[in-house]
Amino acid sequence: MTVHLREIGSFGDVAAEDDAVLDYFLSTNVVGKISDHSAMLVLGRKGTGKTAIVRYFTESEDNSTARSLNLRGYPWNVHSTRIDRGASEIEAYVSSWRYLIAVQLCSLILAHPNSSRSYKSENLHNFLVDNYGDPQPELAKVLRPQKIRFSKVSITPSVMGNQLGGFEFERKSGDYDFGLELNALSSALMDAVCEVAHAIGVDSLGLHFDELDQGLSRLDDKRKHMLIGLVIAARDLKRQYTTDVLAIDPIVYLRTDIWDEIQFSDKNKISETLAIRLNWDGEELKQLVETRLRVKLGKTTNWDEIATTDLMRGSQTKWNHIVSRTFLRPRDVIKFLNQLLVEARQRDDDTVAFENPDIIAARDTYSSYLKSELDDEVRPHWPEWEEALQAITAIGSQNFEKAEFEREFNARRSKSNLLSSQEALAQLYRFSVLGYERRSGYGGSSWAFAYTDPAAGWDSVATRFKVHPGLKEYTKVRESRT
Ligand SMILES: Nc1ncnc2c1ncn2[C@@H]1O[C@H](COP(=O)(O)OP(=O)(O)O)[C@@H](O)[C@H]1O
Ligand SMILES: [Mg+2]
Repeated sequence: MTVHLREIGSFGDVAAEDDAVLDYFLSTNVVGKISDHSAMLVLGRKGTGKTAIVRYFTESEDNSTARSLNLRGYPWNVHSTRIDRGASEIEAYVSSWRYLIAVQLCSLILAHPNSSRSYKSENLHNFLVDNYGDPQPELAKVLRPQKIRFSKVSITPSVMGNQLGGFEFERKSGDYDFGLELNALSSALMDAVCEVAHAIGVDSLGLHFDELDQGLSRLDDKRKHMLIGLVIAARDLKRQYTTDVLAIDPIVYLRTDIWDEIQFSDKNKISETLAIRLNWDGEELKQLVETRLRVKLGKTTNWDEIATTDLMRGSQTKWNHIVSRTFLRPRDVIKFLNQLLVEARQRDDDTVAFENPDIIAARDTYSSYLKSELDDEVRPHWPEWEEALQAITAIGSQNFEKAEFEREFNARRSKSNLLSSQEALAQLYRFSVLGYERRSGYGGSSWAFAYTDPAAGWDSVATRFKVHPGLKEYTKVRESRT
């Protein structure tokens, strides 16, 4: 059956927020690991599908036990003043996150259609209304009050047998009871949440923290400590509340580049046991695209029916040509294909299949897109990274020697750019802007890119480099013939 490309309309929006992703969500092993409570940290580059998973868990049919918490516009400055001075600098925000999670769980369980069946619900309701004027306080307001009040008809936390009269967020210097008292308050809230959940037969509650990187222009120590605090608080709660009582799943979605830059003592353990990385291969990405085709067209269609079979230069299939220009991220593929639709329709509105010239025409716009995605990732770590791209443009060829880069980079390096040419190459490798040449035992060689071969690692003595194919047009480099 012939499909007119115009019937497709688009391959979807490049951001899950604006995409009808639930209509064609592709379930992966990540979903299984969150469902069976074995993960709490989801790591992935920009555009790998973090928000898509959040939406899957919080917007699918039964979402009365899971909620998404979007940190876009979160008042990080307010949170940064809620310091526990009795804890180490690294853990100074664990108790405040723990409280924030407890408050969110209270409002989640109160929103459950059966919650009124438990008399404890009233206490939680009173607590939230007394302190926030609303049983569903906004995320941004949870840590805003200076003082949290308790009463006999809400909750009554105590520390070592002494009932607390209230909790002050703002403390005189030398007062180290912040963490002790706040944890007692959070525990009292959690006890009540468990009681309500038990009474109404709820056995798990999930909170999905998304967009922790929004508006991040610089990753300073304070922000790092707050992120660490959230991860530790989430891990501790998950550990404490397991399936036999009420399973609590605070799931943290974080960009890989940010996780790589934070350090704390349990980091490796968490990476190994509770973290999942979002990785896609070419086949899975094809499945993702074909699932969209089927839903959009309402009939069985696969990629080969919408693209002609003649090969691109270098005997590459169209699909491989496209995928090799991505960082193996769904967003890149969707962006490329949408641009491809634009180009093919310009040729003829009744077009039935993508042809090689369409692909070539789509590359310019796509390449600029890829560069702007990299801006969001690289800038917080290295604001002057564009100077390195200019150096590559000046070299002018896709493959180049270290000495050439050194020369062009140093000629362009501004005073504020603190990276040496060697460090610059390492950063470009880290974000897969380039790969290095790796020699194998039998006189052959291959290119090592971080996104296809993370185990390769950076080689500080590498001398030959190759620009990622997706950036060829943006950097205006010529293809090198080997
Ligand atoms: N599992 C999936 N199934 C279908 N589409 C997906 C899936 N994961 C990601 N996508 C799509 O890929 C694009 C990027 O995903 P998104 O969740 O916005 O990435 P992130 O939040 O990690 O930046 C969106 O268009 C999204 O709908
Ligand atoms: Mg997102």
